[in-house]
Amino acid sequence: MPSGDRPAQPGDSSGRAPVPVGRPTRLDAYVDRYAARTKGMSASEIRALFSVASRPEVVSLAGGMPNISGLPLDIVGSTLHELVLDRGTEAMQYGGGQGDSTLRAQICQVMRPEGIDAHPDDVVVTVGSQQAVDLVTRVFCDPGDVVLCEAPSYVGALGVFRAYECEVVHVEMDDDGLVPEALRQAIAAVRAAGKSIKFVYTIPNYHNPAGVTLSSARRPEILDICAEADLLILEDNPYGLLGFGRDPDRALRADEADRVVYLGSFSKTFAPGFRVGWALAPHAVREKLVLAQESATLCPPTFSQLAVSSYLATHDWQGQIKQFQETYRERRDAMLDALADQLPSSATWTRPDGGFYVWLTLPEGLDVKAMLPRAVTERVAYVPGTAFYADGFGSRCMRLSYCHPSPERIREGVRRLAGVIQAELELRETFGAALPREPRGYEGPNTDLS
Ligand SMILES: Cc1ncc(COP(=O)(O)O)c(C=O)c1O
Repeated sequence: MPSGDRPAQPGDSSGRAPVPVGRPTRLDAYVDRYAARTKGMSASEIRALFSVASRPEVVSLAGGMPNISGLPLDIVGSTLHELVLDRGTEAMQYGGGQGDSTLRAQICQVMRPEGIDAHPDDVVVTVGSQQAVDLVTRVFCDPGDVVLCEAPSYVGALGVFRAYECEVVHVEMDDDGLVPEALRQAIAAVRAAGKSIKFVYTIPNYHNPAGVTLSSARRPEILDICAEADLLILEDNPYGLLGFGRDPDRALRADEADRVVYLGSFSKTFAPGFRVGWALAPHAVREKLVLAQESATLCPPTFSQLAVSSYLATHDWQGQIKQFQETYRERRDAMLDALADQLPSSATWTRPDGGFYVWLTLPEGLDVKAMLPRAVTERVAYVPGTAFYADGFGSRCMRLSYCHPSPERIREGVRRLAGVIQAELELRETFGAALPREPRGYEGPNTDLS
């Protein structure tokens, strides 16, 4: 009800209710009314950083923003212009909850190079693959259910799992991705504790944040373990087509249609601003996802879907992806060379074959989160490793992204970062190591992914 309609309270000429005397003013008057699930919601460490990291003098190795300036904006512009002229009334209208059928057929073509043979009926278009993570969690997870995730894992997915009050159990990764034996042990341990695992969430290709890729030898093993344990896999694959000088890896979904929900996105291969992603799901799950999509948004945005569909139909999107691969490869090289030149030998890092990210591990005793304000003062930003763990690990790790800054800026950023790390190491030598932030008594996942 608009406040102007409310009858004036006695003694209050403004019409506002008087604040009862003696009751302290609260910062948030609704604090005791929020649903329990909001306790898990907090601004991600990345978001809190965006305001400082986006200042021009700061080299941001933090955000994962794709290099949109590499797109042919004139061609995209004329595609959108024609879309409005030719199909404007359709593009600006509501659509079906599952998404545009032409786009769903095109999505099946986009997934072909990863060995996926899918029917458009099994595709649900979503508002970025982020919404697909949300919908899958919504239809599968009750509070307290366990989701198995790599250690570390994608911060946006961890936020969703927290919002639905799931328990995240991390599973060790190494240079070849998820470690099969660790997965076996995690499944056994969680079940022995009487808890229910709803799915294994994995990013097999060019992992965010770890930069590693699940080896082809391990893929069938991971599928076998999940089949034996009768577990669903949530395969999140926004970077799969962004490999450097290598063919796309075979998706887990290509060999196991009934046990895998595959998520894809146009955010990294075209543009994130359209917010178009998708889920490819076993038939019955697809039904539930459409119902969940309808209750969440009625339908994915028609305009964005038709824009992406027109772009795919009229533009050499594969050629564009090749250009993106070249740009990102050059930036990856700049970062790896600069790290090798500048960082002390006690630091280790991953060497990605694609995607956007390098995972850096510093010597024991350094606290990367505590170091961040000093780094920003030195005009370089990164994301502290703890953002990518649900359990407080990762305090001597950080994610560095090379997708957005130019190679020169990357080199300069690493030079500044090396200076900050060196100063931290000298402080540690002088005053001793910072207290370890990792929870004690638990061996924890392998944060050293080098
Ligand atoms: C692993 C992973 N999954 C999902 C997403 C969400 O992407 P979008 O919602 O833009 O498709 C991202 C974005 O960075 C990501 O890295």
